[in-house]
Amino acid sequence: MGFLHGKRALIVGLISDRSIAYGIADSLHREGAEIILTCQNEKLKNRVEEMGAKWNALTTIPCDVGNDEQITQLFLELKKYWDSFDILVHSVAYAPSDQLEGDYIDVINREGFRIAHDISSYSLAALAKASYLMMEGRHGSILTLSYLGSERIVPFYNVMGLAKASLEANVRYLAQSLGPKGIRINAISAGPIRTLAATGIKQFTKILAYHEKIAPLRKNVTIEDVGNTAAFLCSDLALGITATTIYVDAGYHAVASMDPDMEI
Ligand SMILES: NC(=O)c1ccc[n+]([C@@H]2O[C@H](COP(=O)([O-])OP(=O)(O)OC[C@H]3O[C@@H](n4cnc5c(N)ncnc54)[C@H](O)[C@@H]3O)[C@@H](O)[C@H]2O)c1
Repeated sequence: MGFLHGKRALIVGLISDRSIAYGIADSLHREGAEIILTCQNEKLKNRVEEMGAKWNALTTIPCDVGNDEQITQLFLELKKYWDSFDILVHSVAYAPSDQLEGDYIDVINREGFRIAHDISSYSLAALAKASYLMMEGRHGSILTLSYLGSERIVPFYNVMGLAKASLEANVRYLAQSLGPKGIRINAISAGPIRTLAATGIKQFTKILAYHEKIAPLRKNVTIEDVGNTAAFLCSDLALGITATTIYVDAGYHAVASMDPDMEI
């Protein structure tokens, strides 16, 4: 029996079989969790539903996390299937493409800042707010996805770095609010992975190649690596862990400089 047997997981952020949410759904399902998925809009529903069949997902519910009314509708629909649940996965980020090209000071503007923070950080608080009454008193666990650009300079990551810093602070404040209700919340800071969202980041191929050479494990991580850590964090094996950002990046975050003999 898997270590998530009997748990119910709502997974937000699946769009393709390269999505980090796909790797997470795979691991959660393997460990015995029951799954409900969301998709960003109606148009994506069939596609996400087809992927969900692999994990016997109970349903797929459209929800744009930038829209409060759609978040309310999501939970009304969810209650038709579950009166309570255990795991919320938030694997969502967005910034307008013009924000991810060029020098930070040239491209940053008020609207780009607002959208990046709304979709990539506020949405975590919005979903946690809508979830906690259904999650309390049952070892609930919330998980979000961050990136090293929150604390280090990563070329072209720009306003997403600010939004990820906000997201990680959001995790800490939500942990303080939700801890007394028995709900944990953590972030995984994943290394670069080629997904749809990542294709928006300029020079991503070079970032992947550099990461592979520099990271202590000399590899890029996979959605399976992230999924397995996610399954652990969402399980009762991690009951002592909250308010934390855990790196799943082959150790890259700890490196200050490359080996001087290494050719790059
Ligand atoms: N790929 C990487 O290199 C990497 C590294 C570290 C962290 N992350 C983070 O992982 C998370 C998942 O991204 P991914 O790389 O799997 O890419 P992805 O493109 O597969 O997933 C991004 C998801 O965000 C959803 N989304 C965007 N705007 C939305 C909105 N308004 N409402 C609802 N859903 C919305 C998309 O529909 C998609 O499902 C993101 O938070 C991303 O920043 C990615």
